[in-house]
Amino acid sequence: MISSIPSATTCPPRMQPKMNVAIAGVSNGLGHWIALALLSNPRFSVTLLTRTKSNDALESLITKGAILKVVDYGSSTSLAGALSGIHTVISTVWIHNNIVPMRSLLQAAVAAGVKRFAPSEFSFSAAANVDLIPYHVKVELWKEVQKSGLEYTAFRNGLFMDYMAAGSSVPYPGLLTLHPYILDVKARRAEIPGTGDERMSFTTQEDVGRFVAAAVALDKWPEEMGMEGETTTWNRIVEEAEKVVGERFTVSYVSREQLKERLKDIPEDNWMGRFVTAGNLAIIDGKAAVIPYLNEATDVKPTNVSTFLNKYWGS
Ligand SMILES: NC(=O)c1ccc[n+]([C@@H]2O[C@H](COP(=O)([O-])OP(=O)(O)OC[C@H]3O[C@@H](n4cnc5c(N)ncnc54)[C@H](OP(=O)(O)O)[C@@H]3O)[C@@H](O)[C@H]2O)c1
Repeated sequence: MISSIPSATTCPPRMQPKMNVAIAGVSNGLGHWIALALLSNPRFSVTLLTRTKSNDALESLITKGAILKVVDYGSSTSLAGALSGIHTVISTVWIHNNIVPMRSLLQAAVAAGVKRFAPSEFSFSAAANVDLIPYHVKVELWKEVQKSGLEYTAFRNGLFMDYMAAGSSVPYPGLLTLHPYILDVKARRAEIPGTGDERMSFTTQEDVGRFVAAAVALDKWPEEMGMEGETTTWNRIVEEAEKVVGERFTVSYVSREQLKERLKDIPEDNWMGRFVTAGNLAIIDGKAAVIPYLNEATDVKPTNVSTFLNKYWGS
C-alpha cells in the first residue's frame, strides 16, 4: 500500500490538526457518499458547498458533523470566502453545457490558497471525455486545472454500478436517479453495445465515496486515480444476472455501425440521447475500463457486480 498520513488509531487526534476538506455539489448523489465517507474519518473536517439551503439528506450530514455553506457560483467573493482555510476541494459539480460554475470554483480555490483540487470527473477515461460532447466542459476545465498551480487529480470509476438496481423493490439508499442502462434486470432484457466482450469498469457511488476519502488521506496525488468495484464485460454481467434471478434474459447486440446510424437520427437538442449513444461507442472502443490505482493504494474493499446484483435482485 502507498504511504498515507497516519490514521487516528496510530496517532492520537489531539496531536494532529484536522485536514479541512470541502465538497462542492452535494444535492445529487455522489457528493453525499463522499461526504459520508470523509465524515467517518476523524482526521477530516468536512465542509459542504451547495446552492441548496437545506433538505433531509443535508441535515443528516450536518448531524454527523459537516459544516454547510450555501454558495453562489456567480460570486467569486462568496466562493473564495467559503473556501478560506480549506486544504482539499473535491468537486462533483457538473453542468453539461456550462463550464462557468466549475471554472469559478477552481479560480476561487486558487484565490483562497487551497492546496489540492479534484475536478468533477468520475468518468470512464480522458479519451472517452473527448468523445462525449456533454463532457467537453470537463476536458476544458482539466486544461485549466493543470495550469492552476494546485495539486490535482482526476478520479475515474467507470460506470456507477448503482444503475443495475433500477426497478428493484429493495430500497436504494442513495440520491442518484436510477434508470436501466444497457441491462434492465426487471424486464429481463439487455441491449449490449458491441460484442459484449469489451471490458469496462463498474463502481458503486458508495464505494467511490470511500475510495475518494481514502485518496484524500494519501500523501501524494498522481494526475489520475482510477478505482473499480469490478472490471468485467456485459456478457458476464448478463450471465450473472440470469443466475441471480434464475431466468434467461432477452439479449440483443448493437454494432458500432448501428450506433453511428442511430446518432444521425437523434436530434441535436436531445443531448442525453446523444450522450448515451456516444457513451456506448466509447464502451465498444475500450475506453470505459479504468486503471484501478486506488484499489492498490488504499485498503478499500469495494462491492463487486455479483454481490451488488444479489443484494438488489437475489431472493
Ligand atoms: N460514471 C458514471 O456512471 C456517472 C454517472 C452520472 C454522473 N457522473 C458524474 O458524477 C459527478 C456527480 O454526479 P451526480 O450524479 O452526483 O450529480 P450531477 O447531477 O452531475 O450534479 C452534481 C452537483 O452539481 C451541482 N450543480 C448542478 N447544477 C449546478 C449549477 N447550475 N451550478 C452549480 N452547481 C450545480 C449540484 O450541487 P448542489 O445542488 O449541492 O449545489 C449537484 O449536486 C459528475 O461529474 C457527473 O458527470 C458519472
